Amino acid sequence: MTNQTPALPQPSQYAAHFTIDPNTVYLNHGSFGACPRQVLDAQNTHRARVERDAVKFYVDDLWPMMDHSRNALAPLINCEPADLVFVANATTGVATILNNLRTTLGDEILITNLEYPACANNVRRHAHQRGGTVRTAEIPWPIESEEQAFDAILSQVNERTKLVMFSLITSATGLLLPAKRIIDALNQRGIDILLDAAHGPGCVPMDLTDLNAAYTTGNCHKWLCAPKGTAFLHVRRDLQHGFHPLVLSNDAEQIETASQRTNRSPFNHEFDYAGTDEATGRMTIADAIQALNTIYPGGIHAIMEHNHALCIQARKMLCESLGVRPPCPDSMLGPIATITLPPGSPDARALKAALMDNWNIQIPVWSTPVGTSIRISPQIYNSTDQYHYLAEALSAELNS
Ligand SMILES: Cc1ncc(COP(=O)(O)O)c(C=O)c1O
Repeated sequence: MTNQTPALPQPSQYAAHFTIDPNTVYLNHGSFGACPRQVLDAQNTHRARVERDAVKFYVDDLWPMMDHSRNALAPLINCEPADLVFVANATTGVATILNNLRTTLGDEILITNLEYPACANNVRRHAHQRGGTVRTAEIPWPIESEEQAFDAILSQVNERTKLVMFSLITSATGLLLPAKRIIDALNQRGIDILLDAAHGPGCVPMDLTDLNAAYTTGNCHKWLCAPKGTAFLHVRRDLQHGFHPLVLSNDAEQIETASQRTNRSPFNHEFDYAGTDEATGRMTIADAIQALNTIYPGGIHAIMEHNHALCIQARKMLCESLGVRPPCPDSMLGPIATITLPPGSPDARALKAALMDNWNIQIPVWSTPVGTSIRISPQIYNSTDQYHYLAEALSAELNS
């Protein structure tokens, strides 16, 4: 930090529950989340259990702990616990779903231009390997209304469309898509949906039963503040038979009898242990939910409202300060918003480096076809002061 830089703004009082570097103005919850101290402590307890008796941990304790996590997460996203399994991250969730599709020559998979690159890459590889094709719906950006997103997707559906993948909240653009409307319309046409809810649990209210997508994957390590490497995969009951993890487990070939041994569905049994890995994160999902419910008055639902409100307020202030138009209506935002900077702004790499080097601000800055853009994604540890500081930093860097 240079001598001219003002003192760092204080984060909110809730920052004390997290271990974020106090010398960084951390404005990027959206990329990797952040985990409260008490959740890290809970995970460390599980880590100690592994090393005390790994056999007991992986052979006996793992199964009830996976149920514990399922039972804690299911009410939050309104689904049956039995329809949930865990994977390392949303990208793996997408790859797992694709690997279970019976795509054949000529089938089309429809995605949008705003999908997360890794997920789109997995779709393209899958289609290439199976002789299918990928069609891309162009959602406008900037965008005026939900209608435009709905029409962009539905207009690209045809008789060859086998699956549509779209994000509940798009990654770089932070758009909350009208998921229910899109899914209803596609279900009516008999087309399966893969909903990428990487920004899902703890981010915006979710009701998987009402949404009724064929497949949903979502991260717990982002807005639920669970340890890294924790994501869920929800597969509708009618599609679970013969649905396997990416990595086959010991029991894959005799899954029906093996699952009777642990008294679980074949779907749950096979995913709960698919090779020895770092399972302590997914064992700590219930602790993360409990932590958010105790740290903040009103718990997770109040947190979602707070983050959304801070996002709207900060975006408005930043757009006014920068003299730019918001690229989407408030109604298409959860707690993530992307702002395109005025023409003539520095390129993304230079600005990102300047914000970090001169102001200690950690924030995503991207080059997009419409110009250099920043993305905000407030969490309870952030304060309004931090966004005013960002406005001041941007003003200085854009005019230097
Ligand atoms: C919409 C969307 N999908 C998928 C991902 C990938 O998440 P992960 O790295 O946990 O797999 C992200 C990450 O930011 C995302 O924003």
